[in-house]
Amino acid sequence: MQTSAGPERQKTTVHTLAAKKKRGEPITMLTAYDYPTALALDQAGIDSILVGDSLGMVVLGYETTLSVTMEDMLHHCKAVARGTRFAHLIGDMPFMSYQVSKTEAVRNAGRFLQEAGMNAVKLEGGRDIAGTIEAIVAAGIPVMGHLGLTPQSLHKLGGWKVQGTSAAAARRLVEEAHILENAGCYAVILEAIPDRVAEIISRRLRVPVIGIGAGEACDGQVLVTNDLLGSFDRFTPRFARKYADMRAVMEQAFRAFIGDVSSRRFPAPEHAYHMSDEEYDALLRDLRMKPSKWRMAI
Ligand code: KIV
Repeated sequence: MQTSAGPERQKTTVHTLAAKKKRGEPITMLTAYDYPTALALDQAGIDSILVGDSLGMVVLGYETTLSVTMEDMLHHCKAVARGTRFAHLIGDMPFMSYQVSKTEAVRNAGRFLQEAGMNAVKLEGGRDIAGTIEAIVAAGIPVMGHLGLTPQSLHKLGGWKVQGTSAAAARRLVEEAHILENAGCYAVILEAIPDRVAEIISRRLRVPVIGIGAGEACDGQVLVTNDLLGSFDRFTPRFARKYADMRAVMEQAFRAFIGDVSSRRFPAPEHAYHMSDEEYDALLRDLRMKPSKWRMAI
């Protein structure tokens, strides 16, 4: 629908993302874990918000994503859904919520849509989980794949290492990307792989390929919002661009508050609620008290 202010914004769906790939328009995606961040992302015009299990590290302070539970994810997904009107919402399935059995995977995937307001789920892995992806898609739930440096397999991968750097490993990634597409994924995330390999995969897949540390040729880009804002203290991955230094901004504001309270510059009269002199005097009389030095003029 067209208005004088331009085309009216519609909810982004899996079809919107597919159409963007067809038109060659980059897809934008960032993570969120709470209501205010989701609100700001949605109002800024982001295509898609991922409630990533990176939550475990950047918000909950764990060393890895392995400790994140279904309950953690659902709690944060609900907050993000309350702040979002237009962006396509993806809930990240946490470690052990889809690996044990297909039945459990489908039931857990369903909870993201039924209880937490998500539009799709994301799973890490390729060939090994293709059957699980098929089962979730068969239940009517859109699935986004995730290949390359998949943090839930950190111990198997031997650390935070770039993946697919040899011809053989890159070939396996290309094959796994095709497997995910054939299993029914509507999009695939590629994390920390060489840009040339990501380009080949983006050209070969019909579905959108979203990169994080995978170069410029992907159909879209995603970052962990805390890396972009500079609010995660431990490290900033090489592939992230820091658009702000929120940790410094926060610390500066907190120091200013501590200073103002310590030196009684806060609160000022405009931050307080007042009572008329008449009522105050009556109260003091009732309580048999003298006016204090804090008596304020209205
Ligand atoms: O958990 C997450 O935020 C992710 C992104 C890094 C893609 O999986």
